[in-house]
Amino acid sequence: MKNSQRVKTHIPGFDELVQGGFPQSSNILLSGSAGTGKTIFSLQYLYNGAVLEKEAGIYFTFEERGAALREQAQQFGWDLEKLEKKKLLRIIPIGVEELSKSTLMDIIEIVRDTKSKRVVIDSITTLAYLSPMGFEETSPTLYSVKKFLYKFMALFKEFNGATSIFISQKDEEISNSIAEYLCDGIVTLNFETLGGDCSRSLLVKKMRRTKNDEDLHPLEINDSGVHIRNL
Ligand SMILES: Nc1ncnc2c1ncn2[C@@H]1O[C@H](COP(=O)(O)OP(=O)(O)O)[C@@H](O)[C@H]1O
Ligand SMILES: [Mg+2]
Repeated sequence: MKNSQRVKTHIPGFDELVQGGFPQSSNILLSGSAGTGKTIFSLQYLYNGAVLEKEAGIYFTFEERGAALREQAQQFGWDLEKLEKKKLLRIIPIGVEELSKSTLMDIIEIVRDTKSKRVVIDSITTLAYLSPMGFEETSPTLYSVKKFLYKFMALFKEFNGATSIFISQKDEEISNSIAEYLCDGIVTLNFETLGGDCSRSLLVKKMRRTKNDEDLHPLEINDSGVHIRNL
């Protein structure tokens, strides 16, 4: 597995931190509090994959309406609708009230049927906490959430060869430790305000089959999207 295939994000400054890209078919946890850039990073991963690699991508969101994502992308000059028409991109918003016991298998089937190579789940925190599937208890406990995530990620690996980003909200009750050992890679995004200036940063905490960079890197968002600065 040493020379595993890499899936390039083409996000400036990122791929060189992980020996050329995410390991193919890996599950990556992208964690950070609100406003750190998780959605933009993930959209950019799909957009670049579609435009530069002609790889089909799919974005499942439990957080936002599809229109909000398209508008967000438009700010960076990414025309998502054009890619959607070519079936190189799909945005699937799932309302919290629509979550059911079959959502997990539905997601896996959609990924398979559409032959999507790049997948984003925004976010597993919402999915795991609000999803009625797999819970014997009436309200989720830490144990049931963990069990749910384990099942989801294991099924994901088994049934498709996609390289997936699972977004997790750091400020939610679910701690990194729950999902960390279930993932092949962990990328954390941070946000700090120092004397009125805000600064974002990115850290690759773990990447299987990879000798990853271990430094904290400044992350900038401008009109062309996310950039990672290599110091
Ligand atoms: N065109 C832009 N230029 C600079 N910063 C931007 C731009 N668009 C959005 N942002 C910043 O990105 C943040 C949102 O990033 P997002 O990926 O939605 O965060 P998250 O998904 O982690 O909550 C906004 O709070 C804003 O500060
Ligand atoms: Mg977001």
